[in-house]
Amino acid sequence: MIALYPGSFDPITYGHLDIIERASAMFDQLVVAILNNPQKQPTFSAAQRQQQIEIAIAHLANTRVTHFPGLTVDCARQHKAQVIIRGLRVLSDFEHELQMAHTNKTLAAEIETIFLATSNEYSFLSSSAVREIARLGGPIAHLAPAHVIADLKAIWA
Ligand code: PNS
Repeated sequence: MIALYPGSFDPITYGHLDIIERASAMFDQLVVAILNNPQKQPTFSAAQRQQQIEIAIAHLANTRVTHFPGLTVDCARQHKAQVIIRGLRVLSDFEHELQMAHTNKTLAAEIETIFLATSNEYSFLSSSAVREIARLGGPIAHLAPAHVIADLKAIWA
């Protein structure tokens, strides 16, 4: 079975990587799908985010990366994924995630959303927190891979 893990990944954190590693062990193939939303101004371009993720998942033979401009369900169908994976950190994630899962179900009844509980040590972690700590010169070695930290430092050096 093929699963799709969609997100902004701006940038990928160890919280995302935790979900990716666990999902890749559960499914035959995993596609990490970066939303390339032209209305948003991400810190990193889709190409940069793709490269960051490709380096981070180099050890996972059944996992690949793509980016998509539109609906997650269209991307899932394109990659023949029957499952969408989302990580749940805290209770406040739940309402929004459930709403997205229901919306996606109305758009594509054949695709299931499966939630993975984020590992405890990453339940507080977000890309925006990593970006902010990096911008303010704080330590982030425990939050994101070294090559991502280098990219962040290059922006705010
Ligand atoms: O990492 P994020 O920002 O929480 O990811 C959110 C994402 C990309 C999964 C969500 O915004 C999304 O699926 N966007 C694509 C547009 C879409 O499919 N909308 C319908 C479902 S609400």
